[in-house]
Amino acid sequence: MKLRQVKGSAISGLFYCLLIFVLGQKLEGGNAAESECGRQHADLGSRVSVPGDDHEAQFGEFPWMVAVLRKEKHDGIDLSVYTCGGSLIHPQVVLTAAHCMADVGKEYKARVGEWDVQTKAEIYPHQDRNVTTIIVHPEYKRNPLLYDLALLILDSPVTIMGNVDVVCLPDKNQLVDNNLSCVSGGWGTKGKFYNLLQKVELPIVDTESCQTRLHTSLGTQYQLHESFLCAGGDPGKDRCRTDFGSPLVCQFPEKKDKYFQAGILSWALACSESSVPAMYSSLVKAVDWIDKIMIDNNFSTSVYKN
Ligand SMILES: *[C@@H]1O[C@H](CO)[C@@H](O)[C@H](O)[C@H]1NC(C)=O
Ligand SMILES: *[C@@H]1O[C@H](CO)[C@@H](O)[C@H](O)[C@H]1NC(C)=O
Ligand SMILES: *[C@@H]1O[C@H](CO)[C@@H](O)[C@H](O)[C@H]1NC(C)=O
Repeated sequence: MKLRQVKGSAISGLFYCLLIFVLGQKLEGGNAAESECGRQHADLGSRVSVPGDDHEAQFGEFPWMVAVLRKEKHDGIDLSVYTCGGSLIHPQVVLTAAHCMADVGKEYKARVGEWDVQTKAEIYPHQDRNVTTIIVHPEYKRNPLLYDLALLILDSPVTIMGNVDVVCLPDKNQLVDNNLSCVSGGWGTKGKFYNLLQKVELPIVDTESCQTRLHTSLGTQYQLHESFLCAGGDPGKDRCRTDFGSPLVCQFPEKKDKYFQAGILSWALACSESSVPAMYSSLVKAVDWIDKIMIDNNFSTSVYKN
C-alpha cells in the first residue's frame, strides 16, 4: 500500500500532516478462522526488528486493531484519510471515539488487519469495509466531553483470520485498577507518524491521583467524569504512539493470555507532556449500552464476552 504524507501547498493546509491511505487492495489469502475474543496472534511471523525499539507491535499481536478511514476526493482521486483508531468487537461492528466521527456528511470505512501501512507484503491482507451506520452514545457531549464512544456498523462482516479477530469487552463489574497489565497502540498520527503499528504499556491511574495530576492545568476544582478512566503518564511511555479512538486493552487478571478493552483514547492535555495521563472512555461504564445496541441490531453479544 502506498502512503503519502501531504505537506503544505500540494493540498490545502487542512490536510497538513494527515495520512493519506491510497485506496488499494492487497492480495487475497489466509484462511478464515474461529473467532475467540481477546487473543493475540503474535506467532504469525517475525518482523524486521529495529534494535532498541520495543514499541513495535508484532504482526497479529493486536488483531482487533482497526484503522478508521475517512473517504475524500482530491483532484479526482479517491483517498482514504486516516481518522482514528478503533477496535473490532464483532465481525461487523467497530468501536471508536464519538469525537472521531464529528465530520458530518463524510463517508467512512474501516480497515482491519493493517500493520505496516507501507507494504502489501504482509502474511495476510488487510480488509476494508464501508461504514453504513454510526451510532453515538446517547449521553455523548462535546463540551465538556462525556461518553465519547461510537459504534460503527459495517456493510458486511470481515473475515476472522490470523491478523483479524475481536477483542473482549469487560463485564460491568470488572475491576479496572493499576494491578492490571494494559497496553494501547496505534500509528501515532498526532505526533510522529510510524509505518508499523506501535504499542505502549500504560498503567491505569486511579481517579484521585489522576485528578491531582490534572489540577495543575485544569484547576483544583476539576473532577474527572465517571465515564472516563485515566491511564499512562509515566515518563518514557510515549502515549504519542497511540491514536484517538484506539483501544486500551488489559489482561484479564485470571486469564493472562486474554485481553479485554478497558477504554478508548478520548482526550489528553498534550501528547508531549508525558507526565500527565490520558483519558479513556470507560467501557465498564458503557458495556450495557453496547449490549443493547448489539441486540437491537440483531448482532450477537457472545462474540466479545469472555
Ligand atoms: C463502498 O463505498 C464506495 C463509495 O464510497 C462504493 O463505491 C463501494 O461500492 C462501496 N462498497 C460496497 C461493498 O458497498
Ligand atoms: C493490587 O496490588 C496490591 C499490591 O501489589 C495488592 O496489595 C492488592 O491486594 C492488589 N489488589 C487486587 C484487587 O488484587
Ligand atoms: C432484527 O430481527 C427482527 C426479527 O427477525 C426483525 O424484525 C428486525 O427488523 C431486525 N432488526 C434489524 C435492525 O435488522
